[in-house]
Amino acid sequence: MYGTPVTEPEVSASEPRRSAPAPRSESAVAPVSGSAAVPSSAPVSAALAAPAAVATQPSAEGAAADEHVSRETPDRDEDDPPLAMEALRAVQILNPSGEIHMPRPDHPRVLCVANQKGGVGKTTTTVNLAVALALHGNRVLVVDLDPQGNASTGLNVPHHAGVPDVYDCLIDNVPLAEVAQAVEGIPNLFCVPATIDLAGAEIELVSVVARESRLQRAIAGHPEKFDYVFIDCPPSLGLLTVNALCAAQEVLIPIQCEYYALEGLNQLINNINLVRQHLNPTLDVSTILLTMYDRRTRLADAVEQDVRNHFGSKVLDAVIPRNVRVSEAPSYGQSVMTYDPGSRGATSYFEAALEIAMRGVNTGGAA
Ligand SMILES: Nc1ncnc2c1ncn2[C@@H]1O[C@H](COP(=O)(O)OP(=O)(O)OP(=O)(O)O)[C@@H](O)[C@H]1O
Ligand SMILES: [Mg+2]
Repeated sequence: MYGTPVTEPEVSASEPRRSAPAPRSESAVAPVSGSAAVPSSAPVSAALAAPAAVATQPSAEGAAADEHVSRETPDRDEDDPPLAMEALRAVQILNPSGEIHMPRPDHPRVLCVANQKGGVGKTTTTVNLAVALALHGNRVLVVDLDPQGNASTGLNVPHHAGVPDVYDCLIDNVPLAEVAQAVEGIPNLFCVPATIDLAGAEIELVSVVARESRLQRAIAGHPEKFDYVFIDCPPSLGLLTVNALCAAQEVLIPIQCEYYALEGLNQLINNINLVRQHLNPTLDVSTILLTMYDRRTRLADAVEQDVRNHFGSKVLDAVIPRNVRVSEAPSYGQSVMTYDPGSRGATSYFEAALEIAMRGVNTGGAA
């Protein structure tokens, strides 16, 4: 997929060496030319015929990763392996013994990833949890419900103007299966992209019948095909987020370990309560994930304690550190899980995904 040869970036001895394409600039959301860089846009219904295909057993090639999880990405050959190989390698590094399983839930779990505060890691969390679960045999759909289209970018799914997107599902009742695209290189992962069209949806939805439950209806049309549906919300509490809250059984709130972290959370919780009272009685705030934790600061520690005191067992044990690999990955059209599976960012998201999967099994879905 990343067919364009590029020069190796300058790296320090402590950094992983990569022979990856140049980072995508803002213009990367513009039309992707019809090259191998374009992920398959085959209808999801056809693509779903094939179940989980990423092996979880290490091969002989992965023997180097067998000893323990490395923080360094091994040197790579001149020829970039295809993305499917990246996925295989990611599993070998993250789960070298192949003994860790992320059990599939017995019913589809729909998680709304929400926090109206901007830049707290909603999209990063959505993308990396989705990839981690898909790499371990779960069938996963990401619904990009943010007009910024960051989740679509992060999964390298075309989302330029004219591409069928979630707007079509919300406003024109187009079935989800017609707009979902297979994510290249990650078996069992699909994405309903957001294009710039979605920017108008917030206004247009106001006059549409059953405006709060359009997404719920779209997802309900295809629940049996996915183990997980992650809905990446915009940083607002408007009708798009309300649609996500109506469509989900669970809310996952990423909280950035920084000073104003808890400010505004009351407003989000109030909205969730309102949706629960009037529209979606079983909606549950099942999961809180601490993101961008910087262990060098006492503040991060204090925020973590505050959040754990307030939300108790809803807070995942896994905490996502601030890690440069996490922020670099989207510019290569990858999750950190495949971009640098040995990084602390990747191992932390792997642990978070595992916890979510185990909680789902232990509690029968919505925790
Ligand atoms: N653990 C991390 N370490 C370093 N950078 C991170 C980490 N998580 C997220 N980032 C970076 O922080 C920025 C914001 O993250 P992200 O886009 O996921 O937040 P968001 O809540 O989805 O934002 P928005 O509210 O705009 O949708 C991005 O540039 C992302 O790459
Ligand atoms: Mg986002």
